[in-house]
Amino acid sequence: MMNKPYITIVSEVTVDGKLTLYRGASSKELMSIMTKEVYKYLHSIRAQVDGIMVGCETVRTDDPSLTVRYVEGKNPTRIIPCSTANVPFNANIFSKDAPTIIVTTKRAPKERIEKIKNLGAEIIFAGEDLVDFDILLPILYKRGIKKLMVEGGASINWEFARKNYIDEIKIIHLPVIAGGENVPTLIGGEGFKSLKKILKLEILNHFVIDGFLITEWKVQK
Ligand SMILES: NC(=O)c1ccc[n+]([C@@H]2O[C@H](COP(=O)([O-])OP(=O)(O)OC[C@H]3O[C@@H](n4cnc5c(N)ncnc54)[C@H](OP(=O)(O)O)[C@@H]3O)[C@@H](O)[C@H]2O)c1
Repeated sequence: MMNKPYITIVSEVTVDGKLTLYRGASSKELMSIMTKEVYKYLHSIRAQVDGIMVGCETVRTDDPSLTVRYVEGKNPTRIIPCSTANVPFNANIFSKDAPTIIVTTKRAPKERIEKIKNLGAEIIFAGEDLVDFDILLPILYKRGIKKLMVEGGASINWEFARKNYIDEIKIIHLPVIAGGENVPTLIGGEGFKSLKKILKLEILNHFVIDGFLITEWKVQK
């Protein structure tokens, strides 16, 4: 087994498992129903980890800051897998209040790489076509990212799920139903399609904050 960070997926999910209101929509609108206390729960997890990751598509659609704001605590290093480094140069992840790493591949144009470096972010190359987590995770571990929180979206979550790299899952269940056939859910990708291969979970905790059920799960290895 490779040296990899301890990986926790954290997500806000509707009762019908959706991450957002419709495909392509920012999840910020859906998350706006969360109360301050629920945000405190989310941000207290951020304050306990060394690194926080979201996929490049989430940066493009949600433009998150990925910082600790609702509780006291240190901002984790922001890590964004982005195979052609196609991330808006004015994105909030380039704010100066936390370090940022863009993980990319040989496909990324040089000008973009230079521009991103000038914005103060670091570049790590890992992979040929898409970002290769088998290369990336030991690099992150070696440089001190021992606890990594992954905040989606569906495609990135699937990458971690399919290789059985997830250690824990923490879900904020939004007390709403969004509906919709093609709306991203907690885990996207191809799916396991087999009872033998599916991830098996063990419940660790469940509690309610302001009417939002929180569930915390350990992934059986
Ligand atoms: N409710 C929540 O908690 C929550 C959290 C996060 C996101 N969301 C929602 O989820 C949606 C975005 O999810 P998404 O699944 O479309 O995108 P995503 O998982 O955020 O990002 C996927 C992108 O990451 C890049 N990538 C690099 N290496 C990859 C690899 N090995 N495997 C897969 N992707 C790789 C690709 O972009 P490139 O081709 O540019 O490399 C890919 O399109 C948005 O609507 C957002 O609002 C909700």
